[in-house]
Amino acid sequence: MNIIMEKEVLPHHRPQWKTHIGFLLAAIGSAIGLGNIWRFPYLCYKNGGGAFLIPYVLALVIVGIPFMILEIGLGHKMRGSAPASFARVNSRWEWLGWWQIIFVMFGVVLYYSVIIAWCFNYLFFSFGLEWGADPNNFFFNNFLMISTGPFEVGNVRSPVLFSLGVVWFLNWLIVFRGVEKGLERANKLFMPLLFVLILILVGCSINLPGASQGLSVYLKPDFERLKDIRVWIDAVAQIFFTLSIGFGIMIAYASYLPRKSQIVKDSITISVANSCFSLIAGLGVFSVLGYMANKLSLPIDQVVDKSIGLAFVVFPKAIGMLPAFPKIFGVLFFSCLVIAGVSSSVSILEAFTSGIIDKFHYPRKIVASVLAVTGFVGSIMFTTQGGLFWIDIVDHFLTQYGLVLGGILECILIAWIYKAYKLREYLNKFCMLKLSSLWDCAVKFVIPAVLVVIFINSLIKELASPYEGYPWLAIVLIGRDWVIFTLFFAMIVAARRWKRHGKIDD
Ligand code: PHE
Repeated sequence: MNIIMEKEVLPHHRPQWKTHIGFLLAAIGSAIGLGNIWRFPYLCYKNGGGAFLIPYVLALVIVGIPFMILEIGLGHKMRGSAPASFARVNSRWEWLGWWQIIFVMFGVVLYYSVIIAWCFNYLFFSFGLEWGADPNNFFFNNFLMISTGPFEVGNVRSPVLFSLGVVWFLNWLIVFRGVEKGLERANKLFMPLLFVLILILVGCSINLPGASQGLSVYLKPDFERLKDIRVWIDAVAQIFFTLSIGFGIMIAYASYLPRKSQIVKDSITISVANSCFSLIAGLGVFSVLGYMANKLSLPIDQVVDKSIGLAFVVFPKAIGMLPAFPKIFGVLFFSCLVIAGVSSSVSILEAFTSGIIDKFHYPRKIVASVLAVTGFVGSIMFTTQGGLFWIDIVDHFLTQYGLVLGGILECILIAWIYKAYKLREYLNKFCMLKLSSLWDCAVKFVIPAVLVVIFINSLIKELASPYEGYPWLAIVLIGRDWVIFTLFFAMIVAARRWKRHGKIDD
């Protein structure tokens, strides 16, 4: 029988953050990632500019912050990774914790680390502005040597493979060294560096000629767009992805907090800091786009592109046109992406590592090493010539369905089965900022309802026409088979017995 009593099963000497700021920076580091720099500004532009801030801020306040409090509160109370915490709520739900961290470890981080690897390559290309006059051709044909579709896999791109090795080495090193010496120290270095770099970038860009034109496109409100439900869905989906919630990451990070912690205040700080970072990064991105449009005498909508195109095609082009120090600007921009990316990818590795340590008590060093090698090998499929197509498909499914489904189930488990008020009362005992029953309402009704609407809407759209016209086979492979496989895997791990100290629980 799975007996999940804290004293019996979880290691007595759970690592702890040495300082409070160390925890905050690590959690903010997980939240701030590639999504803040290239996805948010584009979403904002596409969805009504300044008007998008209305659904975005509403999603932050109504969905993001309450969910963040739920995850951090739960990790703190149960003092365990997602599987351990869920198992202690109800042993029949342990699989959900495994599913979330398997999803993110064998899904998100595999392609996320490849995009960080590209940024790493581009960091070096910046020294010689190697993308030349046609960054589009350079990115797709010279760098990725892109194939014609997902089933034409082609060869592994060796420059990407090399950088991928560096990214996984960093992930490994940080998690291998543990909570305090690895995660805390790395984020104490990464985060201040990232803030300084982004401020320098933004400071330089908003003074460029034409910047104000870009900023007005970025922020000018178009309230008409708010009538489109997709805009609201984009806002909620972005909030989930950008805050790294629904993947068990914040649960693991919070499990290393000391008993007396200000969970509510910290959750708000992390969420708000992350969104402010996005807004600020957007100022830089759109100033540069404004400058480029001005220089080419084109309207902004002809220069802007979404996510990957924005970072690897439009931005390099703009960098090449800068009046002064383009190389330094390029190095700064891609350094920001690498730092923001690595501080997020380590959090994924940590969420899985802590799950395995909690259950099987294997030494951290071995778990981190095995996982880093597995992650590296698993990422290789995305470094092939057909890799970009797979990145696109996998990202679509994990963020539109996996994340949403995980979030709905987590709300059911914590708010309904465990009962939201119990967690609220626990938090209110020692938090200075008190939660009211409105929070219960958010996690019991509002968040699951919003997520169900998103799920159904995405499904309807999917069935009407396959995502981006990809072949159905690719979609079925990822959308159905991969989900079933990970679920099966999660059930198997959950069915294993918990190891007690020194002996197996049997
Ligand atoms: N929050 C990160 C970003 O905005 C992405 C991420 C998702 C990281 C899930 C960890 C887990 O890029």
